[in-house]
Amino acid sequence: MNFEKICVLGLGYIGLPTASTFATHGLQVVGVDVNAKIVETLKNGSVHIHEPGLRTLVEAAVKSGKLTISEKPEEADAFIIAVPTPFYGDKTGEHNGEPHKLADMRAVTAATEAILPFLRRGNLIVLESTSPPRTTVDLVAPILEKSGLKAGTDFYLAYSPERVLPGQILRELIENARVIGGVTPESAQAGAALYSLFVKGEIIQTDATTAEMVKLMENTYRDVNIAIANEFSRLAERFGVDIWEAVSLANRHPRVKILSPGPGVGGHCISVDPWFFVEAAPDLTPLIYTARKVNDEQPHYVMALVQKALGSLKGKKIAALGLAYKPDVDDLRESPAAEAVHLLLDAGASVRAYEPFKVEGLPGIPMAASFQEVLHDAEMILLLVRHTQFAEMKPAEVAAMTSARLVVDTVNAWPREIWEKAGFHVLRLGDGKRTLSA
Ligand SMILES: NC(=O)c1ccc[n+]([C@@H]2O[C@H](COP(=O)([O-])OP(=O)(O)OC[C@H]3O[C@@H](n4cnc5c(N)ncnc54)[C@H](O)[C@@H]3O)[C@@H](O)[C@H]2O)c1
Repeated sequence: MNFEKICVLGLGYIGLPTASTFATHGLQVVGVDVNAKIVETLKNGSVHIHEPGLRTLVEAAVKSGKLTISEKPEEADAFIIAVPTPFYGDKTGEHNGEPHKLADMRAVTAATEAILPFLRRGNLIVLESTSPPRTTVDLVAPILEKSGLKAGTDFYLAYSPERVLPGQILRELIENARVIGGVTPESAQAGAALYSLFVKGEIIQTDATTAEMVKLMENTYRDVNIAIANEFSRLAERFGVDIWEAVSLANRHPRVKILSPGPGVGGHCISVDPWFFVEAAPDLTPLIYTARKVNDEQPHYVMALVQKALGSLKGKKIAALGLAYKPDVDDLRESPAAEAVHLLLDAGASVRAYEPFKVEGLPGIPMAASFQEVLHDAEMILLLVRHTQFAEMKPAEVAAMTSARLVVDTVNAWPREIWEKAGFHVLRLGDGKRTLSA
């Protein structure tokens, strides 16, 4: 198949790098987003998300004339859908009396409907948004077939999951292995032909539902493994064990690789995607469901640890370091760090947060504009995200900025012995050797 022009719908963390990379590899690309502010920002030559190298790539793509930005799709050889697939905030499903979250597929539906008027025989449509099993065949195909054309016969339709790591997106987009599942083998082939324009990793063809399930399995596997690490950290606190020591010792076993505990699981993927399995098959997913619950409860354990450290929370001045859902990214979606701060605020603590990757923070959370400012009159430092900038702080530097000498470290970023030598009292999440006697 020959591709000259494509439309990429959704210009976020996935769609914008994808659109720009295709453009810098010779295709004419129309980047489409329904958010007028994002369209405006990109048209003005700015970039609305933080991702290393992305600004330069987008500038190169726009400057070459190969990437144009629009609020509407237009005729093209291929269409890629990379719109959000969150869960509903205001409604849940239920199975055996247990509530579960529901996938909000409105953006996928709307993007597919927007393609419909421009769909032509021989086009390729690829869904990249992480989706519940069978979305490509049961949701996307019927909408596109309203054109009178048949999926797999008159046009190619495929699902291709994105597995890039935020912070490394531009490199991983090109180097990662890519799975492409077609509604027919020819559809998978057409998808492989498109992505082979820039993908250097292996491209593996399969059917659409397998590709959807592969993506959900990858993230669910990680969620369940983080849940067991979090549960181990609770056990360690109960039994007077330091979880960080215990995990590093257990991982000396040649076939064991326990992940790190922390304040919880967030972001747009791992904390969301397992629900798609639970919603689609609640009778088959007790383990996945429980793992989600364990990880969602983790901010409450952070609050309990802070309470233990401070006695009462009322009016206590806490400097919260980090709101992102993981280190060195500006993404605050579903962030357990933000959830922990909200819980502390609700309990009456006077929390101020500093998030170097998104200084404006989130509504409802008092923010400081700098490291100095957040520490200024704090009584306690709560380390919630292992941003490199935080991990590299020296105790002497911090001691010079604040009189606070109490640290609660939920991510094991500040080596306890070093910080304690410098006069700090450090409580770490899962460190039962300290928290038992705290
Ligand atoms: N961010 C990641 O690291 C990552 C990794 C793998 C998979 N995914 C999946 O990729 C998909 C996109 O994620 P993201 O992080 O890029 O989301 P995002 O929120 O950063 O970007 C999505 C963009 O789509 C736009 N949009 C919404 N509805 C639209 C429509 N009907 N037409 C055109 N544009 C529309 C939004 O305005 C937004 O700019 C999701 O399904 C996500 O689960 C994300």
